[in-house]
Amino acid sequence: MKATAKAHSNIAFIKYWGRKEETLRLPSNGSISMNLSNLFTTTTVEFRSDLNKDDVLVNGEENNAINSRISKHLDRIRMLLQKNIYAKVISQNSFAASAGLASSASGFAALTVAGVAAAGLHLSEKELSILARQGSGSACRSIPDGFVEWLDGNTSEDSYAYKLFDQSYWDLCDIVTVISKEKKDVPTSTGQQTASSSIFFQTRLNNIAQKIKTCKNLIKTKNFDEFGKLIEMEALELHTIMFTSWPSLIYLEPTSLTVMKEVKKLRDEGISVYFTIDAGPNIHIICQAKDIDIVQKRINSIPEIIETIVNQPSKGTYLLEDHLF
Ligand code: PMV
Repeated sequence: MKATAKAHSNIAFIKYWGRKEETLRLPSNGSISMNLSNLFTTTTVEFRSDLNKDDVLVNGEENNAINSRISKHLDRIRMLLQKNIYAKVISQNSFAASAGLASSASGFAALTVAGVAAAGLHLSEKELSILARQGSGSACRSIPDGFVEWLDGNTSEDSYAYKLFDQSYWDLCDIVTVISKEKKDVPTSTGQQTASSSIFFQTRLNNIAQKIKTCKNLIKTKNFDEFGKLIEMEALELHTIMFTSWPSLIYLEPTSLTVMKEVKKLRDEGISVYFTIDAGPNIHIICQAKDIDIVQKRINSIPEIIETIVNQPSKGTYLLEDHLF
C-alpha cells in the first residue's frame, strides 16, 4: 500500500538540547513548541516486494546524507510489521534542508506517519510521537496539532509529545528570517552529544522544570510580553551553552546579530516582538498577528536577509490523498 503524509516543522520555545539516552533519543529535559504553517515536508512511502533495498529520494537527490537514517527509521517500522520488505520513499521539503529550519522534525514526522500507514499499521498519536522521536528528537513534537509539550520521560514509552492547545488557540506568528541556506557544518545530532560539556548545562537543568511550568502558564494566559521575554532568554541560554561546549558551536552569523538587534530596536519603539533561535543562523521572530506587517517590513529592509517566511500555528502531521509517485 502507498501512503502520503504532510508534517509541519516546529519552533521550540523551550529547547531540547542534550540527551540522557542516546539510542532512544531521550532528551535531558522536556520542551515546548509550536508547529509552523509554511515549513513542511510531504512524504510518500510504499513497501514493495520487488525492491532489494530502500529506494529513497529526498528533495530530488538520490544520495542524500540522510538516507541511512531514513532506512534505519524504516527498520523500526519493519520491526513493528515483522516483515523484511523494502520501501520506495519520496520526500519533498517546502524549504532548504539542514539550515536550522528543523527539516529533520518535519521530515521524520512525515516519514513516520506515511510509513506506518503504508505498512497498514494503526498507531495512536502517542505511539506515533514515540516512534518519530527515535528518528529525530524534535520530530515527536510535529505529530500533535498546535502548541505542544514533549515530556522527557525515563523510558521510551514515557517520552512523547502531546497537544497543549490547538493551532487556533493563539494568533502568534513566527517570521523566519532566512540568513543562510547553506547546510550547517555540525548537525544537531552531534551538537546534542556535547551539550553536557558546557559548565552552564547543569544550571540549565536545575531550572528547567520551573521554566517549562512558567512557559505553559504564559501560553495559557496569553501573556505575550512575559512569554516573549522568557523565550528570548531561553534562546540566548541555548546559544550560550553551544558557545561554551567543546568543541564550541557557533551557529550564528553576523547577520543573525543584526536581526537580533533590530528586534530589540523595534521593542524600544514600543512594538511587542521577540526572537528565538534554533541550531542555525536563521532568526525566528515571534510577534502577534496584528504586528506582522510592520515587523516584516522592517526586517526585510536589512539587505543581507535572503527571505522571510511568515508562519501561523499549524496542525501536526496528517495523511493526504494525493501521492508524490
Ligand atoms: O531534533 P534535533 O536533533 O534536530 O534537535 C533540535 C534542536 C533545537 O532545534 C536546537 C532545539 C529544539 O528543541 O528544537
